[in-house]
Amino acid sequence: MVGNRIFLITGSPKTGKTTLAVSASQFAPDTLPAKPGVDCDDTLVIQLDSDGTLGAADAGLFPKVLDLSGAGGYENIDKELAKAIPMIREAVTKGEIRNVCIDLTVLDREIRLYAAGDRGGAKSSLGNADVTLSGDVNWNLVSARGLTLMRAFKTLPCTVIGMAHLRRTDNNYFLKDGEKKAVEKVNDIRGIAGDKAQFTADLSKGVYDPWVHACSGIFVTEVRQVQVGSGLKPKIEKQYVTHTGATPEFEAGARRSSVLQGMETRSLNAILRDMYNFQTK
Ligand SMILES: Nc1ncnc2c1ncn2[C@@H]1O[C@H](COP(=O)(O)OP(=O)(O)O)[C@@H](O)[C@H]1O
Ligand SMILES: [Mg+2]
Repeated sequence: MVGNRIFLITGSPKTGKTTLAVSASQFAPDTLPAKPGVDCDDTLVIQLDSDGTLGAADAGLFPKVLDLSGAGGYENIDKELAKAIPMIREAVTKGEIRNVCIDLTVLDREIRLYAAGDRGGAKSSLGNADVTLSGDVNWNLVSARGLTLMRAFKTLPCTVIGMAHLRRTDNNYFLKDGEKKAVEKVNDIRGIAGDKAQFTADLSKGVYDPWVHACSGIFVTEVRQVQVGSGLKPKIEKQYVTHTGATPEFEAGARRSSVLQGMETRSLNAILRDMYNFQTK
């Protein structure tokens, strides 16, 4: 039983973060994709993007979904979450839900927009990403909101899984000039592997830090191209891998590196089963 634990899943966009999170379900098969597809009724995704769970569905995993993608701004998301958390707690207590997954990157962006609006009147709405790193953000407010949210999730007596995008630290090529400067200035994002990290969670410090400190483990997802077969025209397939231990590129939390392979292609349910069976022996 994994129970009341927090995990963080990070990875570049489309590397299978949501799919891995949903695969914490006891109904998920050990290897993905699930064929045929399975309902993962013990797992809830709090969806902040309208297509948040489509990828998991492609991989055959159908979780319960609380859709807040239309909430329109952080204040409304916050209100909806305040209403939802007691409901989720009840479902957890009844044994109906065992895993709750939330996209921290969108949440973080909404909090930043909200904090920017608080300072300078910038509008808080999904998609208005220009103000998120403008520098004119009330970082204390971001921290406070981040911490409050983490505490709300932390009290749920189930497994809580936060998902966050990664971005490269050494080459923020997709940031605008002003944003780049703001990132350097406020140092609001921190590398997964400290100073030498190539990748950093795309989250404000106030949102990232409480999750990192509270979580039992960080998993990093990656998609690789693997060659299947030989000859001059070998078949190239995608392989979805989860880093479970530190590598020069990824620091995925050393707590389990002695238990698991360091890199897995299995469902989170299978990974967690190994981790915790090992620890309770
Ligand atoms: N282990 C896996 N096996 C096969 N397909 C996968 C696996 N993990 C993810 N995918 C596919 O990769 C795509 C992105 O997955 P998703 O979980 O939405 O990524 P992210 O949340 O990181 O953006 C989806 O089409 C999904 O079906
Ligand atoms: Mg996702």
